[in-house]
Amino acid sequence: MTEKREYKDDYPEKKLYIPGPTGVRDDVIEAMCEPMFGHRMDRMTDLYTTIVEDTKEFLGTENDVIILTGSGTEFWEASTLNLVDENILVPTCGSFSERHANVAERLGKDVDRLEYEWGQAIKPEDIREALESSDKHYDVVATVMNESSTGVRNPIEEIGDVVAEYPDTYFVVDAVSSLGGDYVDIDEHNVDVLFASSQKAFAMPPGLAICTVSQDAYDREVGKDSASWYGGFQRCIDYYDRKGQTHSTPAIPIMLAYRKQMKYMLEEGHQGRSERHREMAEYTREWAREHFGMFPEEGYESQTVSCIENTQDIDVAATIEQVSEQYDMVFSNGYGSALGEKTFRIGHMGEHDVESIKALTDAIEDVAGL
Ligand SMILES: Cc1ncc(COP(=O)(O)O)c(C=O)c1O
Repeated sequence: MTEKREYKDDYPEKKLYIPGPTGVRDDVIEAMCEPMFGHRMDRMTDLYTTIVEDTKEFLGTENDVIILTGSGTEFWEASTLNLVDENILVPTCGSFSERHANVAERLGKDVDRLEYEWGQAIKPEDIREALESSDKHYDVVATVMNESSTGVRNPIEEIGDVVAEYPDTYFVVDAVSSLGGDYVDIDEHNVDVLFASSQKAFAMPPGLAICTVSQDAYDREVGKDSASWYGGFQRCIDYYDRKGQTHSTPAIPIMLAYRKQMKYMLEEGHQGRSERHREMAEYTREWAREHFGMFPEEGYESQTVSCIENTQDIDVAATIEQVSEQYDMVFSNGYGSALGEKTFRIGHMGEHDVESIKALTDAIEDVAGL
């Protein structure tokens, strides 16, 4: 039984180095403090068309963009309902890809997992082999770009090129913890559906899911007997085309924050943001290898979250607690009971830079006596 813990007014401010949510700029937070307006007013059309078109420009995609109230999880469900009649292939390499498979199962789909040990990356040749050798037709191959539980960045570009060889198989990418911090050319690599959450590398408050949809994926849903209502591609995109608005009442304050932050993102650019994240990831890896080890298979380390192997057997939970108390910085333990103390994770995403990551690693060195 969970008991009520009364929310207080005076929590100390903590700098976040977790794999999301990430810190949000002050003026982006302030952008939310506007008197409320109606979601059918012209002002809403101005706001929604601005954030949708700015996002398309930032991502450099010709595909449609949906920005929906909810979190990335919504598009695990919606993409499955919209595209899969029967069979879906889900390579699993950690907790989030396993959850993607689980969602599809709960929706009654026939799920084939291609299982990798945690820490290993999904290999394009295995996808080809699975598509070629199976006597089933897969409607979708669903791949996580950045497996947040293990810090693995999967080669989705090469996987997309493989899936492109199978024209009736749609390629769905969970880019929740990497989009905005790790460049991906969506159109070049046949990504039919790619989704993310606002609270990760976009450095916005949580509450919005972003999804890109190819014309093929849209047409596929139109030709299907059933699909998601809330996350239906057709409903969301047609509403946008007709009215420049969302089909139901959105989280307007978060969209105001989105508008402000997306302007910063456009200034820096998709590639520029990716480059800054690459520098942070390289710094963190170097530090980790000096003191510990990296958990992911070499060559597939994430650009937004480093999963570090606890080779020194430090007390991860106590170190996190002390760094938080003494430095007001929060990083993450390993994922779940299997990796909880065996690894720890540093989220270097959003608005951080090498200097701010170094402040954290200095704090860890101090507290853990490295
Ligand atoms: C890779 C990945 N996919 C999906 C999710 C779920 O996203 P959300 O919590 O925004 O629904 C997460 C959350 O951490 C994630 O890291």
